Amino acid sequence: MSEIRFFPIQHPDYRYPASKNPYWGKLQGLGNQVYSDQQTEDFRGRIGQLFPHDPQGALTVEIGCNAGHVIVESAHQNPGQNFIGIDWKFKPIFRGVEKAAKKGLKNLVFFRAHAERLAFMFGPGELDRLNLYFPDPWAKKAQLKNRFFTAERLKMIAPLMKSGGIFHIKTDHRGYFDWMVEAVNQSLDQWEILSISEDLHRHHPAPHLLDFPDVTLFEKLFIQDRLPIHEIKLKIR
Ligand SMILES: C[S@@+](CC[C@H](N)C(=O)[O-])C[C@H]1O[C@@H](n2cnc3c(N)ncnc32)[C@H](O)[C@@H]1O
Repeated sequence: MSEIRFFPIQHPDYRYPASKNPYWGKLQGLGNQVYSDQQTEDFRGRIGQLFPHDPQGALTVEIGCNAGHVIVESAHQNPGQNFIGIDWKFKPIFRGVEKAAKKGLKNLVFFRAHAERLAFMFGPGELDRLNLYFPDPWAKKAQLKNRFFTAERLKMIAPLMKSGGIFHIKTDHRGYFDWMVEAVNQSLDQWEILSISEDLHRHHPAPHLLDFPDVTLFEKLFIQDRLPIHEIKLKIR
């Protein structure tokens, strides 16, 4: 009798399980603006094929894009560049695709996928820019292992970046920010710090007037609550 084996998410042989989420089926019918689960790993090393109108265009990937508030606007304002928004939630991805379709965007594709699988979605040197905005802080001690941003992950991401590529991170969470800075300090052989801020909008005269894509949905709420936004901008060496 053959044995069924289950692999952890980071393992090369991991396979997405079948989902009963009603939006799973809805995503299947949306053509080439969205890919989900295993399909998101079909373009590794030839990611330009997702953008037939401009396969060589610079590529920005946003991790945890939610319903695409930032990435839809970025794609709309930068028709000469390509964009991929990744989120593991089905419904927000569906909403993002709806918005992109309404604007007729050909330079934006969504992936319903686990960000932990990034190295199986993208090949060496395929990313010009990677954005990670307000990742879940997993603040309790038992949850810390779930944090996306670690020194190990920076090592995994480094080869995916094009020469001169940028990794842009924002968080409201002070504890996670300190954790990130520590991880960056362990990774300075591969990454250069372009800027670090503990209060990104401190000198802005009216931060509550900032809009997408300059701020995210969560960021708007944090600004309303007068919470400082922490930012790290890294460049691959
Ligand atoms: C706190 S929200 C921030 C959303 C958006 N970036 C913003 O700033 O408004 C975090 C987002 O990351 C997504 N997310 C969390 N963990 C993820 C993972 N491992 N892979 C993909 N998406 C993930 C969540 O579904 C959610 O949309």
